[in-house]
Amino acid sequence: MADRSPAPTTLVDALTSALVKREAKSARRKLTVLPGTAVDFSSNDFLSLSTSPAFRNRYLSHLNSAPESFPFASGGSRLLDGNSAYAEELERFVAEFHDAPAALLFNSGYDANIGVLASIPQPGDLVLYDELVHASAREGMRLSRASARKMFSHSSPTSLKEVLSEEMKSDPWIWEGTRNVFIVIESLYSMDGDVAPIQDFIRVVDELLPRQNGYFIVDEAHATGVFGPRGAGVVQHIGVQDRMFIRVHTFGKALASHGAMVLCGPQTRDYLINYARSLIYTTALGFPFLASIRTAYELLSSGQTDSVGNPIFSPQPSLYLKLITLKQLRTRSQQLIQHLHQRLQALRVPQSVPFRVDHFATSPIFSLRTSRPRELASICQEAGYIIRAIMPPTVPRGSERVRVCLHSGNTETEIDGLVHVIQSWLDRSAISTGSKL
Ligand SMILES: Cc1ncc(COP(=O)(O)O)c(C=O)c1O
Repeated sequence: MADRSPAPTTLVDALTSALVKREAKSARRKLTVLPGTAVDFSSNDFLSLSTSPAFRNRYLSHLNSAPESFPFASGGSRLLDGNSAYAEELERFVAEFHDAPAALLFNSGYDANIGVLASIPQPGDLVLYDELVHASAREGMRLSRASARKMFSHSSPTSLKEVLSEEMKSDPWIWEGTRNVFIVIESLYSMDGDVAPIQDFIRVVDELLPRQNGYFIVDEAHATGVFGPRGAGVVQHIGVQDRMFIRVHTFGKALASHGAMVLCGPQTRDYLINYARSLIYTTALGFPFLASIRTAYELLSSGQTDSVGNPIFSPQPSLYLKLITLKQLRTRSQQLIQHLHQRLQALRVPQSVPFRVDHFATSPIFSLRTSRPRELASICQEAGYIIRAIMPPTVPRGSERVRVCLHSGNTETEIDGLVHVIQSWLDRSAISTGSKL
C-alpha cells in the first residue's frame, strides 16, 4: 500500500507557510518603528499626555520623592509580595474618582477583561456581547464557564432585545431570575469612535429582566480621560454608574500609562482576587507604573498642574507644550477635532469614488471608509502622516477603513497637510481607469 502520510515538514516550515498564506491575503502583520519626523495621527495618546511637560514633571517628582528604600520592582504577584500600601491607596483614589465602591488593579486592559469574563459568569449563565467588543473580551468569554454566549448587532438595543427574548423562550430560568445574564459592551468603540447607546440597553434589560438578573460589563478603554466629567468616562457622563456591574478603565491609551482598573463592588473585588487567574498568576505592576497612573489621575482630578517647567523633549514641538492643565489639553483636542471634521466635510469626493467619512460628534477618532484603505494609508505614510488601514479580522469584512486619531499635540497645519494628501488621492482615483474603490 502506498504511503499516504504527508511529507514531513519541520515546525518552522509550518509556521512559515502560515505566514505565506497571510501574505497572500494581504493580512500579514509586521512590527514597524516610526520615523521620528512622522506626524502621529494613529496612536491612542489622545491628549498627547505622554509628551506633555505637565505629565512628565509631576511623574518625575513622584519618582524622586519616593524614599531610597522604596522598592521600584513589585517583587511578585499581588497575592504574594507584589502588593503595597501605595497600590491599595491608588485603587481607593481611582474608585473615588469614578464614583465606584471599589477598584482592582490589573496589569493591562487585556488582563482585566480576561480576568473578569473568564471568572465571573457561572455555569448556567448567559453572556450577550456586542459584535464589535475587543479581542480581550472575546478571549475572556472563550475561557468562561457560562453555558451560552450570544452576539448582538453592534450598538443595537433592538438586536439585544431580539437575542435575549429568543434565549428566554427556551430558558425559563432566565425569566425567573435564577440564571444571570451578562451584557458585554464598550462605551466608546475604537474603530468608528462611536458611543454606545447605554441608556437604551438599560431600558431593554429593565423591561425583559425585571428580577434584576441582568448585569452590565462595560469597557471604557477608549473613553478614559477623553469623555465625561474630568475624563471619567461615558458612564459617569450619563450618570448610570450604579447600573454597571463592572466598568473597566485602561491606562495605556489617553492616560499615557499602563494597566487597568476594574470598578466594582467590594465582594466582586474580593471574588476577583480569589478567582481571576490573570491577576493571581502574574507579577504585579511596580512602583514606576503605579506612579504614572497616579500622575494621570491627579491631573484628571485637579484639572491642573503645579508647575510647567521646561519641555524636556518633544518630537513635534507645538502649541500643546504650553498647555498646562488637562482642561486645556481637552479643549485643544476639541478645537482640533472640529477643524479636522470641517476639513473632511469639505473634501471634494468625485462621484465615481466610493468614499465616506464616519465621525461621531466630539470623538477624536475618524473613520475613512474605502475599500482601498491600504493604498490610502500608505500614500499618507509616504507623505509623513501616520494613519493606519484597519482590515479584517480587526473589523468585519466589508467595513475596512482608514482610521485617523487626533491628539492635542497635533496642529492645524498638520491636519491641513493630511487632508491635502487625501484630496490628491481622491482626485487621482477619479481619473485613473477603473476607479472603483
Ligand atoms: C476596548 C479595549 N479594551 C481593552 C484593551 C486592552 O487594553 P490594554 O492595552 O491595556 O491591554 C484595548 C486595547 O486596545 C481596547 O481597545
